[in-house]
Amino acid sequence: MSAIVIRELDAAEAERRVAELGVILRDAVEGGASVNFLAGFTQAEAEAYWRGQIPGIADGSRHLLVADDGEKLVGTVVLTLAPQPNQPHRADVGKMLVLSTLRRQGLGSKLLDAVEALARAKGRTLLMLDTTAGSSGDLLYRCRGWVQYGIVPGHALSTAGVPTATSFYYKEI
Ligand SMILES: CC(C)(COP(=O)(O)OP(=O)(O)OC[C@H]1O[C@@H](n2cnc3c(N)ncnc32)[C@H](O)[C@@H]1OP(=O)(O)O)[C@@H](O)C(=O)NCCC(=O)NCCS
Repeated sequence: MSAIVIRELDAAEAERRVAELGVILRDAVEGGASVNFLAGFTQAEAEAYWRGQIPGIADGSRHLLVADDGEKLVGTVVLTLAPQPNQPHRADVGKMLVLSTLRRQGLGSKLLDAVEALARAKGRTLLMLDTTAGSSGDLLYRCRGWVQYGIVPGHALSTAGVPTATSFYYKEI
């Protein structure tokens, strides 16, 4: 674990490493994580998702942090700065993903610490996110001091297409 570093990818490196980013996202969906996609999600679709994030990374409205083991990327988290003029203090956290083979070793917590530190550095003091109720993310956010402010039944489909509840969180940092 000590060899794994958390760092930000710029747009050029995100483009170069889009296949690795795709592997992490596909691994999560294949494992049943509800991260906006359904079962059958392909590597090409996963790479297309990340390519779609690159313009935002390039213009600074979005920041991509990765866990890098020196040979390959093994985790991601994305900070999206709220664009609304009346919410200059807010940002959203998403695509919090750790390769399934490396979970429960503290990597998710390190990514969360890093994204919170980055948000603070960008002057964002209110963070928001959502995740499937009862998921690994739900447990992680709760134990890292995030405040659950509601659960919406049937908010999203599971990867298998079944309506599931979503748990909504915020954190003041
Ligand atoms: C959520 C996720 C990023 C957590 O990554 P991780 O590296 O396993 O997290 P950590 O090892 O830092 O876990 C920290 C704590 O969170 C809780 N936790 C995390 N996953 C858990 C699980 N599957 N079951 C129970 N508790 C869990 C535990 O309290 C854990 O501490 P412990 O291992 O000392 O008991 C990872 O499970 C993942 O990628 N899941 C699939 C994608 C997803 O659902 N992302 C969130 C929605 S955006």
